Amino acid sequence: MYRKTYIEVNLDRLEENIESIIKNHPEYQYYIGVVKGNCYGHGSYLVNSLIKKGVNYLAVSSLEEGIKIRKYHTDIPILWLEPISLDAIEIARKQNITLTISSLAYLENLTKQIKDKKLKMHLKLNTGMNRLGIKDKKDVQKAIGIIQKNYFLEGVYSHFITTGISDKKWDEQLQTFYDLLEGIDLTKIPMIHMGRSLTLVNHPKIDICNGIRLGILMYGFNQSPKKDPSFKGKLRQIKANLRIKKYHISKTTLDTNIKVTPCLSLYSEIMEIQNVKKGENVGYGLSYEAKEDILVAVAPIGYADGLNRKSMGRNVFINGSYYPIIGSVNMGMIQIKVDENVKVGDKVELIGDHVSARYVASYLHTTPYEVLCALEDTIPKKYLYRNEVTYIEE
Ligand SMILES: Cc1ncc(COP(=O)(O)O)c(C=O)c1O
Repeated sequence: MYRKTYIEVNLDRLEENIESIIKNHPEYQYYIGVVKGNCYGHGSYLVNSLIKKGVNYLAVSSLEEGIKIRKYHTDIPILWLEPISLDAIEIARKQNITLTISSLAYLENLTKQIKDKKLKMHLKLNTGMNRLGIKDKKDVQKAIGIIQKNYFLEGVYSHFITTGISDKKWDEQLQTFYDLLEGIDLTKIPMIHMGRSLTLVNHPKIDICNGIRLGILMYGFNQSPKKDPSFKGKLRQIKANLRIKKYHISKTTLDTNIKVTPCLSLYSEIMEIQNVKKGENVGYGLSYEAKEDILVAVAPIGYADGLNRKSMGRNVFINGSYYPIIGSVNMGMIQIKVDENVKVGDKVELIGDHVSARYVASYLHTTPYEVLCALEDTIPKKYLYRNEVTYIEE
């Protein structure tokens, strides 16, 4: 690790998150850890901790991700959340990766190529997102028949597009899920899953589901809206309550017992400091002109690492104080307006306990999901366990 930019993942926190989730929600049989996007930017080494703490299924979005995990974890079942290209079936089969079947035409094609009663499949139902899945009831029945005859139908699932906290869509999607599965003998399907992180926090268990897919919550982000005690917040709540009543939106819960903490930090280091005179420029394209004599520190991190180019103006944390990024974000470097307390070699926190991913996300008008997943796999990762570095991935 010669370049001093790295991600630090606190495995103790991750394990505490899983413990808290499962302790407060022991009602599921399958806790499916969503590890796509390189484990939401955290790197796949943390899979050890997930499994240790009770995650008993994983979900990936590419065969490559599945293969990477399979190298170190031979037993954990892995579900590929997207349809697989027919020429990759053999590899998936050898790697014991569970397939998602999301179209009848695809399934019919597949039967011409391969039949194998051991090949595990989950059928994806389209209940309203219109991304993947079968939405016609007859097609669902037909697909289930084909899979049960030729393969192993291990699961059926769908995906919520809203939180369902004050919207009707969630209820409608759930009803569609029930409708599509009406008349199917669910006792012959070992896994049924529909919920994601916020479903767990905000809704009671869906009776027919025995699995839950956990992403952002495991990584330490409870995205449920917090109670806002301000006048505006109360007004918003009154309006939401009226909507809930008017449209017969199902009651939600707010599980406040689950305690999760973000476990990813992103650090860099000051490698040079420039004295910039009033009127001089900083960075590319005249994006910043000094209004007075200032000190500009340079750190080796840029958009090639996944740092958003719109980060100009957002704060980083150095030696107990906040300093703004100025000038344009470069491919591999940023410039920070500092003071004389900052020296070459000082640590720069770009994401962490003082600069939350939530703050960065709101600065960029996006979500913590995007901020985390944007971090390039090429950034080295230090994994901390019991306050010591237990593994470095370079
Ligand atoms: C199909 C599917 N299930 C589950 C998840 C996990 O969602 P969350 O991170 O909100 O728990 C995702 C995330 O994108 C997803 O696409």
